[in-house]
Amino acid sequence: MIDNISGLIIPEHVGIIMDGNGRWAKKRALPRSVGHKFGAQNFRKITRYISKTGVKVLTLYAFSTENWKRPIEEVTALMGLFKQNLIDLLTDFRDDDIKVVFIGDRSAFSPKLIELINESEEVAKNRKGMLLNIAMNYGSRDEILRSVKTIAADVRNNKIDPEDITLNDIESHLYTAGLPDPDLIIRTGGEFRLSNFLLYQSAYSEFYSTETLWPDFNEKEFDKAIIEYNQRNRRFGGV
Ligand code: IPE
Ligand code: IPE
Ligand code: MG
Repeated sequence: MIDNISGLIIPEHVGIIMDGNGRWAKKRALPRSVGHKFGAQNFRKITRYISKTGVKVLTLYAFSTENWKRPIEEVTALMGLFKQNLIDLLTDFRDDDIKVVFIGDRSAFSPKLIELINESEEVAKNRKGMLLNIAMNYGSRDEILRSVKTIAADVRNNKIDPEDITLNDIESHLYTAGLPDPDLIIRTGGEFRLSNFLLYQSAYSEFYSTETLWPDFNEKEFDKAIIEYNQRNRRFGGV
């Protein structure tokens, strides 16, 4: 409920590590893929709520560069769900004016999924509401490596002198170029780790972990994270 958080400071950029789908299913003696199905439904619901709270940028971690290690059946089920949900997203987020961008290496996906990813971005590109970054085949180490490679090529081509490389050069080649760093990173499922999510960008992010499993993470849970965020004292190394 928006009322719970009215008058509070709303973070400009929120990142969410959507973890716990498998455990959610296990608790119900269901296959892990069913957990992912409910997780995907929840993703669509909670995104629309968050877009109404005043958050400007939302980055959701949907699939990491390490998640390919999972059993083939689970990866296949996830790819199927991505396709289905992207089709629904094409219309779903229109009313809320949500702009959708995918971050991560999309080249590893099937041609059909790549087409849907491109189409989802294309239909939403002129929207003025919240920016939703969906991190798929995203890994922060890979993201930093790409940035370094681009800069190295610029050095080789005499476009830049190594002495002149700045943080801005590194940042401008990350997927999040031009965006504010995340103010708040929420992780569901109870773990206290980043699992290769926005490592560079989260230098001064506030971290919030909840035991709630992703399919159960609802509006009230999001409000709780915002309330706690408002109690944090962000010093950025100052006093
Ligand atoms: C998060 O849920 C979804 C993805 C990583 C794709 P998990 O599948 O990691 O669920 P748990 O952590 O095993 O419960
Ligand atoms: C992080 O969850 C990745 C996503 C939520 C997409 P994982 O379940 O892959 O992370 P670990 O293995 O517990 O670190
Ligand atoms: Mg997990």
